[in-house]
Amino acid sequence: MIPRPLPRVAAFEKLAFGMFVHWGLYSQLGRGEWVQHFEKIPRDDYLKLMETFTAEDFDGRTLARVAKRAGMKYVTMTSRHHEGFSLYDTRGLSKLDVTHTPCGRDLVEDFVEGCRTEGIVPMLYCTTLDWNDVRFKDDWGAYLKYLRDSIEILCTRYGPIGGFWFDGNWSRPDANWQESELYETIRRYQPDTMIINNTGVDARGRAGHVEIDCVTFERGRAEPLQQEDAPKFLAAEMCHTMNYHWGRAHHDFNHLSPANVIEELCLARRAGANLLLNVGPMAEGGLPEYEAAALARAGEWIDLHGGSEGVIYAGTPCGVQGSGEDFGLATSDALYLFVTNITPTSDTRYVPGLQGTGPRVFDGIRQTVGSAVWLDDGTPVEWGQDPETERLTITVPEYPYGSNTVVRVAKLN
Ligand code: GLC
Repeated sequence: MIPRPLPRVAAFEKLAFGMFVHWGLYSQLGRGEWVQHFEKIPRDDYLKLMETFTAEDFDGRTLARVAKRAGMKYVTMTSRHHEGFSLYDTRGLSKLDVTHTPCGRDLVEDFVEGCRTEGIVPMLYCTTLDWNDVRFKDDWGAYLKYLRDSIEILCTRYGPIGGFWFDGNWSRPDANWQESELYETIRRYQPDTMIINNTGVDARGRAGHVEIDCVTFERGRAEPLQQEDAPKFLAAEMCHTMNYHWGRAHHDFNHLSPANVIEELCLARRAGANLLLNVGPMAEGGLPEYEAAALARAGEWIDLHGGSEGVIYAGTPCGVQGSGEDFGLATSDALYLFVTNITPTSDTRYVPGLQGTGPRVFDGIRQTVGSAVWLDDGTPVEWGQDPETERLTITVPEYPYGSNTVVRVAKLN
């Protein structure tokens, strides 16, 4: 039997699309969030970045608005990354926090309030490894207590948080991380929050401690989870970044296009997973223009396909399979077929490997279809159904002149 999802897990799945935000001292250097580690920058030199951390352009509400415009329903921001610097007031637990910089405000507070004002669910990324806190190397027990005490602050000072997203246990796979104690601390104060602990690129989709509510697929392709007889129903989340770094990298031009964002979102939903897509704010906390603009463009695609209550959020995998990357999602009242790789026949460029126009076959459709329309423009879809084989064939036309929606969705009733 497949276990029933807990209400928080079911609610999280409906959020569908979230923004990941990696911001810290490293953003000032603009060479990615691992810069201290890869360039072996000595601790004291690196921590000088605290003297110039002003957060002048950071505004939680602006960030939440960018997310909302993109159709994202939650934002997961780094409260502290591997460099060990906290964007919140650690109340004396560590000197490496925002209160020891010229910024002088609690950025987690600003973030959480900005999200709430805009109706966006705030979530917090928390590193479990630390390059600059000596306790991580020298006093494991004290370090884990510091970690728990930090989480207690995050759980008690900022109101309800949608989720806690841990990352770093992969750095010491054999250590005793005392996960039960950590998660008990969270459940004491925030019983309804999501607990996620990133399993990293080498163990995508792996379930962990029983308190964990969701598996991760860092920079991968989400796969449907095998939930038969599982101890608990788990959500899934694919995290990906707009280019090749999570923290701002001035010279990384390898950005996703709006088309890529649309595809990534659809392919995550195909497996029933959320997409958590990362942006890397600049030194002062403002978002790079391109990243905000590309997300806004993807948001327009969502608007065209049912908007914030539409199939992207409400649709779930239903065993309907197309060829290539085509797939189906069901809502309570309709079936949606997602058609990928439609070559515009009028296109003068030749793109190999595309499936083009013409018949596309979908298997596993049990209900009798009465009508079918393209969701983007409401025009009828040509279709034929074979009740014996549960096979449905639709005819995919050329994109009408004036459009190319990357992934086209047919709505079947
Ligand atoms: C990796 C990296 C890290 C990033 C995370 C996001 O584990 O260590 O920099 O925060 O992925 O998923």
